[in-house]
Amino acid sequence: MARNIIINGSDSFDFQVEIPADKSITHRAIIIASMCEGEIKLLNPLLADDCLSTIEVMRQLGAEIKEEGTNLIIHGRNYNNFIQPRGKLNAGNSGTLMRLISGILSMQNFTSEIFGDESLMNRPMNRISSPLAEIGCNLKTLDGKPPIKFYPSNTKKSFQYDNVLPSAQVKSCMIFAAIYLEGESIVKEKFITRDHTERLLTYLEYPIKTIGKNIHIMGQGRINAKEIKIPNDFSSAAFFIVAALIKKNSKLFMKDINFNERRTGIAKVLQKMGAKITVENKRYEANELIVDITSEYSVLSAVDVSGENISDLIDEFPILFIVCAVCKGVSNIDNIEELRYKESDRINSMEKGLNTLGIKTESTKTSIKIHGGEFNGGIVDSFGDHRVAMAFAIAALISKKPITILNTQNISTSFPNFIDLLMEIGVEVYES
Ligand code: S3P
Repeated sequence: MARNIIINGSDSFDFQVEIPADKSITHRAIIIASMCEGEIKLLNPLLADDCLSTIEVMRQLGAEIKEEGTNLIIHGRNYNNFIQPRGKLNAGNSGTLMRLISGILSMQNFTSEIFGDESLMNRPMNRISSPLAEIGCNLKTLDGKPPIKFYPSNTKKSFQYDNVLPSAQVKSCMIFAAIYLEGESIVKEKFITRDHTERLLTYLEYPIKTIGKNIHIMGQGRINAKEIKIPNDFSSAAFFIVAALIKKNSKLFMKDINFNERRTGIAKVLQKMGAKITVENKRYEANELIVDITSEYSVLSAVDVSGENISDLIDEFPILFIVCAVCKGVSNIDNIEELRYKESDRINSMEKGLNTLGIKTESTKTSIKIHGGEFNGGIVDSFGDHRVAMAFAIAALISKKPITILNTQNISTSFPNFIDLLMEIGVEVYES
């Protein structure tokens, strides 16, 4: 994919769009299938760059992973039989991979090292290295950032860990570590975050249970091999949900979307703003809720968002900022410091682009105020952040003049066919 894209708006549209598979669940399914003993078929995995990095890392640890059409066949190695990778492990752009796999690499009787791309090398890893060190693991970061080096430690004692950060990656890292230990470990969450790891392990009959905000993991249990069907990604759907909401006379329908309550906070916020979003055909697959979604043009008003449930929409703030920028009134969004530690500092990346397009904002370290207005068009930088790039691409549908978005190559980390889908619904896109 080219680095820069120019988007010249679109006519109104009324279509069904095929949203790609869920990234968070695909990462976990590849890792967990590699930890079981036996063969697991993953139906509908996301084969985007981030998940390809996960496949490569698990292969280097000894799992056999084959692509069969659009499915993956994984021969698990049993989590006790991983082998020492020949070289350094490369997590690419994926913070989820680096943090989740750290719980496993910390428990091996061999040394290993993991690194990533320029963006990942600047992201905080002390959030996982500190708790892992606290429970007896032997690992080193570079001043709290990657690369991470892992050394054998022989720790076997179960633990209780209070996760005070609103982070599913930290929680999942500690769950994976707990699998290697003797007896029951407990991870206590201050903020309840996405629970895909717990759901998938439960589906594969691993002894794990959630009681209130505490996750109880019995160590050294068995992960059973079963087919896993991966639903489509609500975070990717969110871009098209918003496209229909802000484009006059438009409507989009999306099928088989994961509707995990800890992921769908933006739907509640948008409905509060006046959005017509219909959720139908609820059913469960591999212990996850799946739905079909229709979204249509709506007159929206400003909103205030803050508090405990921020992590329910943590990845959707870039696209929510776009909505706030074109609805009537001033929106106040608070308690969002975590956005500063994503693939880019998302408060900064979004604020810079919004200002360029003619939208007034005011921000602090933890908040942003967005004054509703109109997009004038212009050149914005995505700072190599896939969700920032996609958010501005959707903004361009209603911009008075074209929007050029720089550094969009990382869209392929989560949504490889994003531009194709935009063109399918009639958006004029040029690559340069
Ligand atoms: C993810 C958790 C979130 C999210 C990220 C994916 C996951 O990160 O932003 O895109 O799959 O566990 P944090 O755990 O850092 O909040």
